Amino acid sequence: MPRVHLITYGCQMNEYDSERVAGLLEQHDYCLTDTPEDADLILLNTCAIREKAEEKVFSRLGALKTLKRLRPEVLIGVMGCMAQLAPRRIQERAPHVDLVFGSPAIARVAELVERARRGPVVETGEAPLLKLTARPARRDTLRAFVTVMEGCEKFCTFCVVPRTRGRERSHSPDVVVAEIRDLAAHGCREVTLLGQTVNAYGRDLTPPTDLADLLERVDAIPGIERVRFTTSNPYNLTPRLIHALRDVPKVVEHLHLPVQSGSDRVLARMNRGYTRARYLDLIAALREAVPEIALSTDLIVGFPGETDDDFEETVEVVERVAYDNVFAFRYSARPGTPAAAMPEQVADEVKARRNARILEVAGRVAAERSRRLEGRVLPVLVDGTSRRNAREATGRTRCNRVVNFDPQGRDLHGEVVPVRIAEALPHSLRGQLAAVAGAPGEARTSA
Ligand code: SAH
Ligand code: F3S
Repeated sequence: MPRVHLITYGCQMNEYDSERVAGLLEQHDYCLTDTPEDADLILLNTCAIREKAEEKVFSRLGALKTLKRLRPEVLIGVMGCMAQLAPRRIQERAPHVDLVFGSPAIARVAELVERARRGPVVETGEAPLLKLTARPARRDTLRAFVTVMEGCEKFCTFCVVPRTRGRERSHSPDVVVAEIRDLAAHGCREVTLLGQTVNAYGRDLTPPTDLADLLERVDAIPGIERVRFTTSNPYNLTPRLIHALRDVPKVVEHLHLPVQSGSDRVLARMNRGYTRARYLDLIAALREAVPEIALSTDLIVGFPGETDDDFEETVEVVERVAYDNVFAFRYSARPGTPAAAMPEQVADEVKARRNARILEVAGRVAAERSRRLEGRVLPVLVDGTSRRNAREATGRTRCNRVVNFDPQGRDLHGEVVPVRIAEALPHSLRGQLAAVAGAPGEARTSA
């Protein structure tokens, strides 16, 4: 049996694509290996979102050169966003790479690998949406990602995604539901519906549908306990979706809603399609509908032309919204994007300073949010043992907080149990098992 070693960088969608590739190769008699040294095929699933992501891939490819010299028969492949965006650059900087293909070509991975045995292959053309059916078996079935739509056509001026992932294409609700039913039959309890702009789901289908409808259909699937979705774009956040967050029982009280900047001037130059006031109105509507909701965000510091005042407006939004979690990125100029050609690029030291400051503010705000959970009893989906102490169980709240607790000798894997939160630590919560319910159902008002 030939062996494949998969290395995945970047977002959850890449994780999903890697699992799909693993499954497709398994159908062609490959088996997975954790060690590159005894692999016949090494595939890097790459991310192009920031320069740092690309540099990581190139340094890994550099390290693999030695392996290739020792065992020239090993095939090295690069897939994903970098492959789609810059196939020539990969071939130039890493000539030992045998195979380069973008995500549209994933469905043909086995055929591409066969061709690569005879000579270098580059495949980055557009292709129809992958079929969601024929999903491979998963290793970790308790929680699964399901890509419900691909691509993005928002064209934020800093972002490569519309170029790497193509136009918006939604999978039909029937196909998504069938896949999740199948996952549930194999023990899956929680699904995360994925899309670059997941709340634009369904507009392109005939008849058109939307994410709120899809959430209701997924909610009805027996065995599934929790439904998440990411990433939502403020531009497409409809009252219908806010109502779904409030009314659909299995949809968790958590929303990731990237703000990117708190300054109208910067938002306009980013082409985000909303203002600071509009974003804050959405947050108010969300908090009113779902008071317990945990909010998280992405933001960029040092976008071209961002002044200290612009940046302070972002800081203020972070404090006002009181996010549970903030992902802050230093702006990284991406070749071919409009923002890369804008004047007034911000110096690295300034980006570093703003990044440190926003992280400090975000950390303080998140710690306050965590402390509010102390003393409360929350349903926890148990998914393993604690990293620090093998006798401790670990799981997640509906808001996706990690909770560690003493399982009192019981094997609770895959169950939802009530845990009283005793202490909020910086990256996790500690608690005590409150009581083991006979049939785990989740309280609607849980955090
Ligand atoms: N809608 C997408 C966004 C993808 S990119 C999603 O599914 O998450 C994830 C985040 O990376 C963005 O929200 C943005 O904050 C950040 N990002 C994108 N391009 C960037 C760039 N050129 N420099 C720095 N950060 C960037
Ligand atoms: Fe990128 Fe903006 Fe789409 S950040 S993924 S172009 S919504």
